[in-house]
Amino acid sequence: MIPDWKLADEALRNIEVKGNENNQPVTIIGVAEGLKCIGIGTDAAVFQYHLTPNYVFKVYSHQALKKKEVEKHVYEHLKGSRYFPQLYGSGINYIVLSFEEGVTFYDCLLQGIPITEQAIQDVEEAREYVRSQGLNPRDIHLKNILLQNGRGKVLDVSEYVKEGNDRRWEHLVWAYKNFYHFISGNQVPLWILETIKHWYLRMNLASFGLEEFTERVSRLLFKQRK
Ligand SMILES: Nc1ncnc2c1ncn2[C@@H]1O[C@H](COP(=O)(O)OP(=O)(O)O)[C@@H](O)[C@H]1O
Ligand SMILES: [Mg+2]
Repeated sequence: MIPDWKLADEALRNIEVKGNENNQPVTIIGVAEGLKCIGIGTDAAVFQYHLTPNYVFKVYSHQALKKKEVEKHVYEHLKGSRYFPQLYGSGINYIVLSFEEGVTFYDCLLQGIPITEQAIQDVEEAREYVRSQGLNPRDIHLKNILLQNGRGKVLDVSEYVKEGNDRRWEHLVWAYKNFYHFISGNQVPLWILETIKHWYLRMNLASFGLEEFTERVSRLLFKQRK
């Protein structure tokens, strides 16, 4: 039997997703009726099709196409877990996932939506589950987590086959415990979030470490609150 998500296949053929230099978000080329982009990452763009709203289609750029098989493989291992979207299938340059309602942690900060302790706890449990399946939870950052009715859901599992700890989640938990109560419920302007991200990504390449990073962020947020 042909799965119902196949209805979107033709529309998806009309768009191309292009990767950009320096880990910048991808660019979408072309339009297709009924197809709506609901998220953008550095490897892929995520679409919803009007006739199949319960699915999303993660379309990889040509440069990131290898990650399609990797991510599919990881989702197969995480099958049935409520901490992640469900995988339904794949096409030539995309995978098919459950559409997940909710707002990314990044957008929660922008919009002043409080991130619950329960959601943080859910991500901790998701990470435990990933490890129990012999995989390595990595790349867990603000745009890869959804707040869904007060609960946490983790997106973007393509790096779980890599080794090493990028410490992104540990840093976020630290910031949540030490900083978040100052800003919870307030809208953080985009330029502030992007400045913090810029510093964070350059922390170890530049001449400053975590301590100076923290000081800079405090100054930025504190000045903003006055
Ligand atoms: N299953 C999903 N349901 C709803 N939104 C999603 C889903 N998967 C991804 N998104 C949205 O699309 C964005 C990009 O997806 P992501 O898998 O993180 O791509 P990349 O690997 O390029 O970072 C996410 O930040 C999120 O906003
Ligand atoms: Mg992502």
